[in-house]
Amino acid sequence: MPKLVVALDFQTGAEALAMARNLAPLVAPGQPDLWMKVGLELFVAEGPQMVRELKAMGFKIFLDLKFLDIPNTVRGAVRSAVKSGADMLNIHACGGADMGRIAVAARDEAYLEYKDECGLTGKPLLFAVTVLTSMLDVDNPILRGRPAAEVVLELARLSQGAGLDGVVCSAQEAARIKEACGPQFLCLTPGIRVPDPSAPADDQRRVMTPEAAVAAGSDFLVVGRPVTRAAQDKGGPVAAARDILRRMATAAAQA
Ligand code: C5P
Repeated sequence: MPKLVVALDFQTGAEALAMARNLAPLVAPGQPDLWMKVGLELFVAEGPQMVRELKAMGFKIFLDLKFLDIPNTVRGAVRSAVKSGADMLNIHACGGADMGRIAVAARDEAYLEYKDECGLTGKPLLFAVTVLTSMLDVDNPILRGRPAAEVVLELARLSQGAGLDGVVCSAQEAARIKEACGPQFLCLTPGIRVPDPSAPADDQRRVMTPEAAVAAGSDFLVVGRPVTRAAQDKGGPVAAARDILRRMATAAAQA
């Protein structure tokens, strides 16, 4: 069953924790897994304590810091991220196969070292970001005129070869990645938007609906503003998250 990951893109821990508390009833036993994403904005403001506090509320945590640096620095960053207790981490695939392999080794060694201290019950998943979902072919200097889908596939193969668990991509690319890399190689897809003509796509460009993302084979759907900024007169974040979970469950049952 695909999982919903709510992006807690807030500047303060107080706002993030209030949102998480709001959504906590959705992780009650028997309910689908609900993950929280701690990204750059929140992590830079609050640090690893945020991961610990959200975990204590019963959520699984995706620490979305998208590491890209020389291998030795990435190794240290991955070790620190594992130590925070995060259940999922990521690096940039364009850092290359060596950086990927070093990140995997760092994840493995740090897991063994810190699993008891952090209460981790399994190795944190390690993903590689392919091409950001806010980018189209035309405006990405890294693509140099090549179609995003082609580069995404190349980076997915490179990441699989380096031992990563999956990639961050647009849901528009998930089906081709699954075809090329197999069903065990995971796809985590931001850029999810509900089919509502009045809802903004914000800065996302390569977007898909929750239903289409699940049908395409996405394993984790990352949703930020459509949940966290959901209009109060339509039930606010809880109603929005429930609606997306319902759409995901319907699509998964049909897949
Ligand atoms: O608000 P929205 O649903 O657009 O949030 C998407 C989240 O996913 C943001 O936190 C963003 O940083 C993250 N993300 C993304 N594209 C990627 C990787 C992460 O949009 N390729």
